[in-house]
Amino acid sequence: MLLPSLITVLSLGSMATAVPTTRARAAASHKLLVGGPAQIFTANFDGSSFDVTVANTTAGTGPSWMRYKDTTKTVYAVDENGSNLNQFKFADESRQSLTYAASVEGSAGVVFLEFNQDKTRMVGASYGTGTIDVWDVSMDGPPKLIKKVTVEGPVNPKQGTHRAHQARLDPSGRFMIVPDLGGDQLVVLDTKDDKYEIVNTVSLFADAGPRHGEFIKADDKTFYTVVGETSNKVMFYQVDYSDDKLGLKEISTQSTYGPDLGPANATSAAAGAIAVASNKHVYISNRFSGNETDSIAHFVFDAAGPSLNFASSTSSRGISPRAISLSNDETSNYLFVANQGGDNGLVAFMRCPSSGKLTAEPVAVKVNSELNPPGPQIPNAGPQFVQEI
Ligand SMILES: *[C@@H]1O[C@H](CO)[C@@H](O)[C@H](O)[C@H]1NC(C)=O
Ligand SMILES: *[C@@H]1O[C@H](CO)[C@@H](O)[C@H](O)[C@H]1NC(C)=O
Ligand SMILES: *[C@@H]1O[C@H](CO)[C@@H](O)[C@H](O)[C@H]1NC(C)=O
Ligand SMILES: *[C@@H]1O[C@H](CO)[C@@H](O)[C@H](O)[C@H]1NC(C)=O
Repeated sequence: MLLPSLITVLSLGSMATAVPTTRARAAASHKLLVGGPAQIFTANFDGSSFDVTVANTTAGTGPSWMRYKDTTKTVYAVDENGSNLNQFKFADESRQSLTYAASVEGSAGVVFLEFNQDKTRMVGASYGTGTIDVWDVSMDGPPKLIKKVTVEGPVNPKQGTHRAHQARLDPSGRFMIVPDLGGDQLVVLDTKDDKYEIVNTVSLFADAGPRHGEFIKADDKTFYTVVGETSNKVMFYQVDYSDDKLGLKEISTQSTYGPDLGPANATSAAAGAIAVASNKHVYISNRFSGNETDSIAHFVFDAAGPSLNFASSTSSRGISPRAISLSNDETSNYLFVANQGGDNGLVAFMRCPSSGKLTAEPVAVKVNSELNPPGPQIPNAGPQFVQEI
């Protein structure tokens, strides 16, 4: 499968010397933001390799999630090992150098950031305390904490606290679903009129451990699928917008490994990230499987069912693929993986836009020995976050 830019170049045909130049220009367009223990990187991905630059090193921090606002060239980074929300900025349009701007205090142990529809507000989900921070990010300067939402309801005794693991804005732009791993529930936040109030909670089965979810839009219907970290199950729902709130009607619950595969070690297995391409192809990372390497499972959404059907599993080429994300081109030609451990830290797979199949061989790899922070080598110190910006 050829990239559209290459097809254009090849069909021009005439000047052979023009090909590498144009190819290089097209490829340079993938700029990635990468985070791991103590470090923030930027990486240029050209379709076959990663050119990585360290942007900030601060011992003891965990920038495991970031959000980028293009209008102000601003990067917001959590510190899961502290309570600061850190702000960085690119100097100019070329986005070559990312410099530190400010730090503001919020909840401790925040692991995810999400914008509201017009990017004037940003929500932080705290795994450490279960609170949900609401930030005013409408201005160019440091964010301002305007609300802390407390998650209520019973807590799983094995977790001991609510754990807000993510906040994802729905396709209508009004509601966010916050998976609460510690309470085995999904919390619905209403962003309308700047309220940021919990308007619904959906209880899951004991030890479901919901971690990360994504929406799927199919004509006038909306679906939601969420990965359970402690259960290694993927739950699939149809969204119901009646009564001025977001409700969920369960369709299926199945193993994140599909019907035939499984982890070598069911005790350590902890499903992690999810990414959805073209409202059809669902990718889930299976971490700490005890297998030689961990894996990315591919499921396909079928609107006619509606159903979510296992298709295949691909080695992540490392251990603990904590983050997976798609490239920003229209057909999401690449899937990026951040493996915290094992040989390969940063991995790119090519993706067939129609079948959703990943290439078995990665198209680019950056080894963990070149990505781990300075100082004594500790396990799983590789990248935890990767996203094209
Ligand atoms: C940061 O927090 C994570 C998650 O709680 C933990 O696994 C890790 O050991 C912490 N790192 C440091 C340097 O404290
Ligand atoms: C790196 O980021 C931290 C916040 O995590 C900040 O305190 C520090 O000043 C930054 N370092 C540099 C050299 O800008
Ligand atoms: C992991 O290894 C076990 C054997 O220990 C095997 O049955 C299973 O299919 C493997 N899982 C994957 C996803 O390859
Ligand atoms: C499976 O994982 C558990 C929890 O991490 C660990 O204690 C145990 O040693 C692992 N078993 C094997 C066979 O590696």
